Amino acid sequence: MNDVNDDAGAARPGRRKGERPSGNPPPPEAAPFYGRRHGKTLREHHAGLMQTLLPHLSVPDGPLDLAALFGRAMTGYRLEIGFGGGEHLAQRAGETPDVGFIGCEPFVNGVAKALALIEEGNLDNVRIHANDAGRLIDRLPAASLARVDILYPDPWPKRRQRKRRFVSDATLKRLARALAPGGLLCFATDIDDYAGWTLQRMLRSPDYDWPATTSADWLAPWAGWRSTRYEEKARREGRTSAYLTFVRR
Ligand SMILES: C[S@@+](CC[C@H](N)C(=O)[O-])C[C@H]1O[C@@H](n2cnc3c(N)ncnc32)[C@H](O)[C@@H]1O
Repeated sequence: MNDVNDDAGAARPGRRKGERPSGNPPPPEAAPFYGRRHGKTLREHHAGLMQTLLPHLSVPDGPLDLAALFGRAMTGYRLEIGFGGGEHLAQRAGETPDVGFIGCEPFVNGVAKALALIEEGNLDNVRIHANDAGRLIDRLPAASLARVDILYPDPWPKRRQRKRRFVSDATLKRLARALAPGGLLCFATDIDDYAGWTLQRMLRSPDYDWPATTSADWLAPWAGWRSTRYEEKARREGRTSAYLTFVRR
């Protein structure tokens, strides 16, 4: 894999890696989002939830006070990045009602599905950032998260598109700031190259340990795992998964 230093963009003569023509790297909140934001027209009920429920659950702008965000004392906080239709987010929130969950997802149809699950499960411990996670993570209090889940992030398999991947040295550093010592970063993918890409960045990061000792540590999913919509698709298409668990130092 010849991608060791490519997170910051390709080098050009007279320009250092990661520099834009102006000479400054883009601020994280201005980095482009490459995925889809809209799919089919929303069903009436889902469209209604976007109008009625989402405003109550949306993470506000500005620096975040997590206790105030959830309005009651929580035993810990978790972040799920790219929750798709929210199946995993709602499952975990239902299992641990005293943990506050923040889910990030820019795809409107996914957000609407998640809202339906939140309503159905009567969950009061989920908040939604219906946007790029990159616009949220720097606003989280330092060392505030017990766990971050990145489950089947868009793989961007073509070499020229890999710099679009959510996992980069810079993103891992930003997440490390928000994770509490001992907190977990859980990453799943069905794309071997993305597993290798993430491991490579984690192993050179000063912020995380990868405590895996046997193949079971990355071939078996986490306790209570019920799969995700994207994982089901990968299985139908004959791909297996890697489940990587990293611990914040
Ligand atoms: C392949 S899907 C997986 C969805 C879900 N986690 C699952 O396993 O079914 C990747 C998801 O990540 C979302 N996504 C992509 N870039 C993102 C970003 N910068 N912040 C938050 N979510 C993002 C996409 O909209 C998409 O829903």
